Amino acid sequence: MKNIIMILLGLTVGSFASTHEWNETAIEGLVFVHNKLRNDASQGLWARHNISKSTDMQKLFWNNSLVAEAKHEMYDCDQLEKRELTLGENIYQYDVTTYDDVDGQQGEAAINKDSHDALSSKDQAAQYRLRQILYSKSNSIGCIYESCDRIDDEGTNYNTRFIICKYSPALKNIDDQLYEEGEEACSNCPSGTSCTDPMMKLCEKKLV
Ligand SMILES: *[C@@H]1O[C@H](CO)[C@@H](O)[C@H](O)[C@H]1NC(C)=O
Ligand SMILES: *[C@@H]1O[C@H](CO)[C@@H](O)[C@H](O)[C@H]1NC(C)=O
Ligand SMILES: *[C@@H]1O[C@H](CO)[C@@H](O)[C@H](O)[C@H]1NC(C)=O
Repeated sequence: MKNIIMILLGLTVGSFASTHEWNETAIEGLVFVHNKLRNDASQGLWARHNISKSTDMQKLFWNNSLVAEAKHEMYDCDQLEKRELTLGENIYQYDVTTYDDVDGQQGEAAINKDSHDALSSKDQAAQYRLRQILYSKSNSIGCIYESCDRIDDEGTNYNTRFIICKYSPALKNIDDQLYEEGEEACSNCPSGTSCTDPMMKLCEKKLV
């Protein structure tokens, strides 16, 4: 019932966006998809795309202050569609046939696909999003998603969704160096951090 009311509201107010957050399982998945991309890049899986191995890639953790910041922005749908890249913030759009993405899986898939597409396409926006994902010094992330009801050229209603992720510390200039290059992952972790997970070669705070 709630969904039906929201859809009706969306049709009367064109730019209506409804903000969603995920549960813990979904959050883990979203963080994992980011860390997997960082790990793959760091270990040289993308060397043929000119993304070389790196030695200082940090692990991302969920950060609720970033979630709060994203919620505070009160995005509207028209604004999201036209929005230019803001450093420290990636927006991914994906179309869906179901109203909810409670388990976050469609969102994860969109981030994964967008990032891999960026490796071999000339799409600058996607490449910029990937640059933020591969910024080694970022160590936290917070995302929300917005549902937007749309009407296509043939008059059919559909739902499109935007995931908005914020990163901290953020890339300051889009051309900044992303990471320290080098053969051995984790060999240049910032002080107080090291790699503990053999599957994810990413620097994280040592437990004291
Ligand atoms: C590959 O990356 C290096 C910097 O790491 C850059 O100088 C060079 O122009 C890049 N080559 C291509 C083909 O993008
Ligand atoms: C979380 O994000 C805020 C920015 O909103 C940042 O100042 C803070 O350092 C981050 N916290 C952690 C633990 O990374
Ligand atoms: C989160 O939601 C998904 C999908 O509804 C569910 O399968 C999962 O068990 C939930 N996890 C938690 C921790 O509530």
